[in-house]
Amino acid sequence: MKITFLGHACLLVEGGGKRVVIDPFLTGNPVAAAKPEDLRVDAVLLTHGHADHSSDAAGVAQANGCPVIAVVELAGHIARKGAQTIGMNTGGTYDQDGIRVKLTQAFHSSSFEDEDGQVHYAGQPVGILLTMGGKTLYHTGDTALFSDMKMIGERHMIDCTAMPIGDFFTMGPEDALDAAEWIGAKHVIPMHYNTFPPIRQDGERFVAKLKERGIIGHALQPGESIEI
Ligand code: NI
Ligand code: MN
Repeated sequence: MKITFLGHACLLVEGGGKRVVIDPFLTGNPVAAAKPEDLRVDAVLLTHGHADHSSDAAGVAQANGCPVIAVVELAGHIARKGAQTIGMNTGGTYDQDGIRVKLTQAFHSSSFEDEDGQVHYAGQPVGILLTMGGKTLYHTGDTALFSDMKMIGERHMIDCTAMPIGDFFTMGPEDALDAAEWIGAKHVIPMHYNTFPPIRQDGERFVAKLKERGIIGHALQPGESIEI
């Protein structure tokens, strides 16, 4: 599995001959490492409706003729923009054509804003367990620390986890260290930091703290990849 960090919480994931993008927020993202029109993907996955995760979802899906996979209420809003969608809910699994997506809980909020500024309920926020080519990535989505991360780690073989460390809107680095330990992934990618002033953090310091706990971290710059 190859994981490319495209900035903020957006990951391009390739494995088993498939490519998916999680939380495409590229237009208007000051640290974006790609343009939405450059993405060639087989599916778009969303953790929740906030614009810093979902803003390019419909456009990327339409350009690629592929579905957006999201919680059912959010999928409904995306479908109104003309994109093909697959609406799921927390705990459920989608498994087709080499892409396996299981939605886990996340502690956050989720809403979706239309072009006219109307804000809509977008269902529960989720984390995503994505399995492709025999490897599993756990993208936690925007979340606080929660103790069932231990259970998620115990019940799934997780090769890599990507988690927010920005604080303010999500857990910060101290809580994320415990999250990394509880999830028990072999590799940890910090995300959702340094995009905007309120979420400024030191990714390398977080990786050094992970190392003290015997965990391998990767503070990827936008555009950088790891192969796991
Ligand atoms: Ni959010
Ligand atoms: Mn966010």
